[in-house]
Amino acid sequence: MIETSPPATALTAEAGGALAAEHRLPAFVHARMDQHYVERVGKLLGGEHMHVWLPPGPDAIYVASNDYLCIAGEHTLLQAQADCLRLGGADLLMSSVFLQEGSRQHRLEQQFARFMGSEDGLLTQSGWAANVGLLQSIAGPGVPVYLDMMAHASLWEGVTSGQAKAVPFLHNDVGHLQRQLEKHGPGVIVVDTVYSTNGSRCPLAAVVALAEQSGSILVADESHALGTHGPHGAGLVAQLGLSQRVHFRTASLAKAFAGRAGLITCSTQFKGYFLSASRPAIFSSCLLSHELAWFEAALALIRQADERRAALHRNARQIRDGLSAIGYNVSDGSEQIIALEPGPEPRTLALRKALEARGVFGAVFCAPATPRNRSLVRLTLNSGLTQVEIDTILSVCAAIYDELDVPTWSSSKRALRPAARNA
Ligand SMILES: Cc1ncc(COP(=O)(O)O)c(C=O)c1O
Repeated sequence: MIETSPPATALTAEAGGALAAEHRLPAFVHARMDQHYVERVGKLLGGEHMHVWLPPGPDAIYVASNDYLCIAGEHTLLQAQADCLRLGGADLLMSSVFLQEGSRQHRLEQQFARFMGSEDGLLTQSGWAANVGLLQSIAGPGVPVYLDMMAHASLWEGVTSGQAKAVPFLHNDVGHLQRQLEKHGPGVIVVDTVYSTNGSRCPLAAVVALAEQSGSILVADESHALGTHGPHGAGLVAQLGLSQRVHFRTASLAKAFAGRAGLITCSTQFKGYFLSASRPAIFSSCLLSHELAWFEAALALIRQADERRAALHRNARQIRDGLSAIGYNVSDGSEQIIALEPGPEPRTLALRKALEARGVFGAVFCAPATPRNRSLVRLTLNSGLTQVEIDTILSVCAAIYDELDVPTWSSSKRALRPAARNA
C-alpha cells in the first residue's frame, strides 16, 4: 500500500490529531491510487510524471497548444471580452434550457449555423458537453453506435451514458465499418474529421456514402478542423461540400477559437428537443455573456483568417516533410497535429525530456488517451511559427534521433510492415 499518513501541517491543524476525512480513504480507493503512484509513476517511470514539464527557458518553442491560428492574445478579442465585463449586468446563472428566444446565445448560435451552412446550432459549455449531450440524445439503449477506434473519448462517453451499444471499427477503415454495419444494422456512425492524436483525416466522402446506404445517422466531430479548414474556416465537412449530408457536426471551441465552449449543428426542431434531453444542457449552467462576447469576436476574426490558415498548413507540410526526411514515421496523419510515437511510456518520457532539454515543448499523450503501448508526444503546430522555430524543431529532432533509437519505436516498426494500416 502507499503511504497514507497526512502531511504534518494537516495533523497539527486537526484538533487532537484526528485524521481529516480526506486522508481516511477506503482500501478500494487506495488500490486505484497505488496503481497510479506505485505502479505507474514509481515503478514504470522511475518517480517521474508523464506530464510535468521542466521549467521553460525564454526561447522555449511551444507546440502543445490548440490555438492553431494564434488568436488567444488577439487585442480585438480581449477588448470585446473586457468591454462586456466592464459593462456589467449580472448574467442569469441558469442552464440553457431557460434561455429565451432572441437571447445573445441564440443569436450567436444562428451566426455559427450560417457560418457552417446548417439550419441552426447549439452552444454548449465544452466540446465534451456537446458530444456527451448529443450522443445521449440520439442513441438510446441498444442502438448500435459505430465509432472509429480513434474517435474522441467524449463521444464514447456519450454512448455509455445513453446506454447505447458501442460498435468500434478500425481507424479510417471503411471496409471494416461496412462489415460492422452489415452485422449490426443501421444506427449512428461517429467520426472525427481530423483526429486529435495524430492529425489523420477521416475519409469523409466514403463514410457519408455508407451512412446513406445503411440508413444511419452521421456525427462528425470537427474540433480540429473548424477554423483551420474549409471556406473561411467552416470546417472539413464544408470543404468537401458535404454540409447537407452530415446530420450533426460538433466541435470544441477550445481549439482554433481559443475559448471554452462546444458547438453542435442541427435543425431548429432538433434544438428544441435537445434542450430537454441532453443532461449537460439541463443540469449544468450555460455560458456567460463575456464568453459569448469572445466567440462573437473570434468568429469575425476567423472568417477573415485565410492567411493564417495558409501559414498553418504550410508549416504543417514543412515540418511533416522535414521529420520524414530525418527518418521519423509521421505517415499516420497529414494535418497540423503530428505524433512522435515511441510506444512504451518510459520511452515517451525520454523523448519528452530530450525535446524539452533543447527547448521544444510538446504534449505527452498516453493511456487512456492512447492504447497502453502507443504513447506519444504530440506536436500541435500553429500559424505563427517562424522559419527559425521550424528549423529549430527539425534540428532538435535530428539531434535526438540516434540517442532515442528512433528506428526501434513502435511507429517506425509499423512503417516497415507491408500492410501497415494507419490505425
Ligand atoms: C476531437 C475532440 N472532441 C472533443 C473534445 C473536448 O473538447 P473540450 O476540451 O472543449 O471539452 C476534444 C478535446 O480534447 C477533442 O480533441
